[in-house]
Amino acid sequence: MRIKLQEKLIFLLNRLFHRLYGSFAELAAAKTGAEAYFQWEFEQAERSYSAFRPCINLQDKSVLDVGCGLGGKGLFYLQKGARTVTGLDISQTNLRIARSCFAERQPDSSQRPSLVVADAAAMPFADNSFDTAISTYTFEHLANPARVLGEMQRVTKPGDGVFISFPPYFSPWGAHLTDWIRFPWCQVLFSEKALLDVARAIEETEHIHASLPDFARIDLAGAVELPHVNKLTVGGFERVLRASPLEVVSKTYRPVGVEMAGILRPVLSFATKIPLLREVFTSSVVLISRKLG
Ligand SMILES: C[S@@+](CC[C@H](N)C(=O)[O-])C[C@H]1O[C@@H](n2cnc3c(N)ncnc32)[C@H](O)[C@@H]1O
Repeated sequence: MRIKLQEKLIFLLNRLFHRLYGSFAELAAAKTGAEAYFQWEFEQAERSYSAFRPCINLQDKSVLDVGCGLGGKGLFYLQKGARTVTGLDISQTNLRIARSCFAERQPDSSQRPSLVVADAAAMPFADNSFDTAISTYTFEHLANPARVLGEMQRVTKPGDGVFISFPPYFSPWGAHLTDWIRFPWCQVLFSEKALLDVARAIEETEHIHASLPDFARIDLAGAVELPHVNKLTVGGFERVLRASPLEVVSKTYRPVGVEMAGILRPVLSFATKIPLLREVFTSSVVLISRKLG
């Protein structure tokens, strides 16, 4: 009975938030084709890169892009002056698409990132192989974030940077269900089972993911937990970080909706300073760190 009520409420809220807006409308459009998604990643790169300013400088650096997706950000890092970019991803499909997007966009093969299919928890690189390691929008998907952070530390040279940003689990869209459920904080308000049942019901009638290309598709059939996310919270990441030998240069909790907040901006920023509120009012955690010599 309770489940039924939850499902009804989810459908109701979904109707109220029926329109995708801003970056979600752009993301939904990008998912319909590899080229469009690559371009979306490339355009988003400026935004995620600026979160690491002023500490990031890729000029002449060897850069590792952990969880590189279709590689759009890697191309951006080369344009920022990186000497080399290596994109690492666990998905063969993604890297096959990345290869063809690079060939299309960059005729000079020496100006393309190189690509490695591997699990970031066991990187096939020697210690101190790269000047800089960057990972954006990936830590929330990893099976073992602590191991990946350890690997990023291991393969990076002392003195330079390990840069990470990711949206924590209780952030507005942390459930990663926006293709079906379009209101924020759905995972805070409702049970996973109710969310999955509603998402499956919507998929059955609207075939949203069935019509997407492989790289963008999430299979909800039989899922008992939210697929595609590891539920890494701000607190969980802090624990991972405390156990790491990396030196933290800065750690920022970017508040939700800060671009549109106007006079509410200081209130939202203040919310991210209070541990429990921080979990729900942080849209992304931004870490700038370095390996000690
Ligand atoms: C949402 S995409 C992020 C792509 C890109 N970094 C960006 O900012 O747009 C997350 C990527 O992480 C990759 N990934 C997930 N688990 C991984 C792992 N254990 N090792 C390497 N890559 C992984 C996925 O295949 C996916 O391409």
